[in-house]
Amino acid sequence: MTLIKKLEKLPPKREEIETLHILRQLSKSSTALGELKGIAKTIPNQTMLINAVVLQEAKDSSEIENIITTQDELYKALSTSTNQPLQIKEVINYRKAIFLGADIINNQGYLRQKDIAELQKTIIENNAGVRNMAGTVLKNDKTGEVVYTPPQEKDEILDLLSNFLDHFNIVDTDISPLINLAILHYQFESIHPFYDGNGRTGRILNILYLIINGLLDIPILYLSSYINDNKSEYYKLLNKVNKNNEWENWIVYMLKAVEVTSNKTVEKINSIKNLLEKTILVAQEKATKVYRKELIELLFEHPYSKIEYVVERLGVERKAASRYLKQLEEVGILESQKIGRETIYINTELIEILKRN
Ligand SMILES: Nc1ncnc2c1ncn2[C@@H]1O[C@H](COP(=O)(O)OP(=O)(O)OP(=O)(O)O)[C@@H](O)[C@H]1O
Ligand SMILES: [Mg+2]
Repeated sequence: MTLIKKLEKLPPKREEIETLHILRQLSKSSTALGELKGIAKTIPNQTMLINAVVLQEAKDSSEIENIITTQDELYKALSTSTNQPLQIKEVINYRKAIFLGADIINNQGYLRQKDIAELQKTIIENNAGVRNMAGTVLKNDKTGEVVYTPPQEKDEILDLLSNFLDHFNIVDTDISPLINLAILHYQFESIHPFYDGNGRTGRILNILYLIINGLLDIPILYLSSYINDNKSEYYKLLNKVNKNNEWENWIVYMLKAVEVTSNKTVEKINSIKNLLEKTILVAQEKATKVYRKELIELLFEHPYSKIEYVVERLGVERKAASRYLKQLEEVGILESQKIGRETIYINTELIEILKRN
């Protein structure tokens, strides 16, 4: 029988988490994230920005769990009310959980254990809650070999979760928050408090942690696409912390994820900003009669738009709303598509930007 190493409480030893290698990467990551925070502020309509990146994250994060969807399917699903296939539902649930988490942080400023359970419940859509039966182990996908055994007793899980939350909610610690982010993500995944959805819940906790610490104002930095692209490394490094407390490479990996993703998000925001400005100009010039700033912003909040949204936002009759959208299609800003009995108006250039990786 192999001896199972018990998961240690936080924090790890100082010298293991503040090596030269870590500190060098930390400075690059902090700069990149600072730039992202700054540029996000310059976008006048924050809902637009959040919507644009959140859906992409929901898609990427669900993909780690092998839930593959296309962008088009997703937007269509969001704007139509038909019964959704399971994989689309999972992505939409994930997105719902991000918004729920951001609301909790905005209203309350910290997370409780029951808030985390609520996030997981939203993602998975079941009431199982924190594990109370033994038997959960993490296996290598390909070989089936057990790579890690998380704590099995409910009391131990709850005790570790409470230690996790102490470190998650404390803003003014002397460990740099980005280093702490990496440590917390490892710890949460290793506690593995739920039967399923621990990865997705943990990835949402990452973004909430950045907001609690004031490193971002809105939920727009997502590491899932980086983790997707570097997945085997991700699992390998988690494992090495499990086995030998090898923190350095794990922390560097997470910091690098912050740097790369921040840079990509900045580029994306710049493209969205340019397109928004261009679209406003075209509408002002070519669709003068129907031009309204809120109308254009709506098309960026909902890249797949429809008449109802315009009715609701602008408080106009259906007929007028329909005329606005048709006019914008005529001048090339939108493309319409019939889905069942509904007509959807697509901001195709925005979709192109959102798809880009
Ligand atoms: N050796 C390990 N030590 C700690 N955590 C691990 C280890 N291997 C994998 N994990 C974590 O377990 C997560 C998967 O757990 P679970 O299936 O409960 O979550 P999920 O959200 O359904 O899946 P996924 O993260 O694949 O989308 C991985 O994302 C990873 O973070
Ligand atoms: Mg799973």
